[in-house]
Amino acid sequence: MERDGSCISIWQSHNSDWTAASLPASTEYDVIIIGAGITGVTTALLLQQAGKRCILVDAATAGFGTTGGTTAHLNTIYDTPYHRMIKDFGEENAKLMALGARSAIGLIKNNISNHHIDCAFAEKDGYIFSLDETQDKELTNIIDSANRVGVPVELLQTNPFPIPCIRVARVSEQAQFDPVLYLFGLIKIFVEAGGKLVEHCRVEEIKQGEVLEVHTSLGIVNARAAVYATHIPPGVNLLHFRCAPYRSYVVAARLKDEEYPPALGYDLNEPYHYYRTQMVDGLNYLVIGGEDHKTGHEENTETCFMKLESHARTFFRVEEIAFRWSSQFYEPVDGLPYIGNLPGNGDNVYVATGYGGNGMIYGTLAGLILSNILVNGESMYQKLLDPNRLKPVAGFSDFVKEGADVVKHLVTDRFSAEKIKEFTDLARGEAKLVKYEGHVMGVYKDEHGGLHAVNSTCPHVKCTVAWNASEQSWDCPCHGSRFSYEGIMLTAPAVKDLQKIDLSKQT
Ligand code: FES
Repeated sequence: MERDGSCISIWQSHNSDWTAASLPASTEYDVIIIGAGITGVTTALLLQQAGKRCILVDAATAGFGTTGGTTAHLNTIYDTPYHRMIKDFGEENAKLMALGARSAIGLIKNNISNHHIDCAFAEKDGYIFSLDETQDKELTNIIDSANRVGVPVELLQTNPFPIPCIRVARVSEQAQFDPVLYLFGLIKIFVEAGGKLVEHCRVEEIKQGEVLEVHTSLGIVNARAAVYATHIPPGVNLLHFRCAPYRSYVVAARLKDEEYPPALGYDLNEPYHYYRTQMVDGLNYLVIGGEDHKTGHEENTETCFMKLESHARTFFRVEEIAFRWSSQFYEPVDGLPYIGNLPGNGDNVYVATGYGGNGMIYGTLAGLILSNILVNGESMYQKLLDPNRLKPVAGFSDFVKEGADVVKHLVTDRFSAEKIKEFTDLARGEAKLVKYEGHVMGVYKDEHGGLHAVNSTCPHVKCTVAWNASEQSWDCPCHGSRFSYEGIMLTAPAVKDLQKIDLSKQT
């Protein structure tokens, strides 16, 4: 399967056992779901099972985005700890979020057992460990607040991970699975239930109305409702100022001693490391993630992999790093995702975004919430996670910071004199921004010495893209759009490719 970068994730060797459709002519659907990752596929299946006529479209292929690159931890503890939720949203709402996590894991378990999806699902304990005094205070808060909202967490004497720590806490009833096998299993059920999946079908515009006119790269689809399950909605929207794009890095290592941890693990560093074990084709792998940074803000993304590998070798007897890859996530400004009506659109256009590092749980919960709203007219999570909500005061400083980053890139990066360079000294596989006759362009030299140039201005709202050497992509530092070296759009919110520049006309 394909993904949105050149690194290969541990899940990418899987093949689908369903067939995508071509775009059916002049059929009216109840719902069009845009994006065939965990959110879109879960939502589409629940709606189809509830009797709605659904069409699921993806600009690329199923699992192309973050679902194909997640490490698929299934937790009842979120990146936003319950003590922060209690402080900002109240204890009842924090309890509701705890229920949401349990419901998401419950739905995944039911899907797997009802439909016999073979996706290496396993229930595991999760261990959170504090590495210094500051982290230990945070661990106390995490334990107290989790227990308050009904997620049992207990202190233990020993850490099953070979990492020295002050204290370790155990959260039971966590789980893990192979996200791509699960996704493909859901798609098979969806298609067998009469749903249509159309790949390589990019939605370019939705004309509002009681019946939406959805313009795609393959033709027009009419539907009574639309769900954007594209990780971040395309176009320019309020949510781009309430969600910040981040990259996270993963290595999968073979160990010399077969001492693979039997659990899920997390330290409390900023950003934190996350650990799990996965067997693929009869071999165990230790999967470690971390080294997160804002998309487009790391000069040399290779250093993220180097730090992660060094971290793995410090604590484990690593034989080889077999896989390494990165993927994108969106941090919501107030700590909770945005699931419901898409701001600035009619009340029949929906969105789910801002999952932080809890994509599998929130993607599944979004399916439950959106299908409830579309089938029953309401969901108990609707008010709390409303994308139009006013953010609580506690999130405001973060919001200003994210906004300030955007403004900085808009104003200065496009005209930075620092980046004026000749492109002829590029090594093969390297890229850089080049100023030439008043234009800033992104130039990449391929393995054969061929040069590929693009206009470095992101078509979303005109920030300047930055080169991601690991994934060989142009990444936008403002809202996370990503493009191949040829300028082809990989990740929303942009809806267009970077403009290609014919270098023969420039020289
Ligand atoms: Fe918004 Fe590039 S993603 S300007």
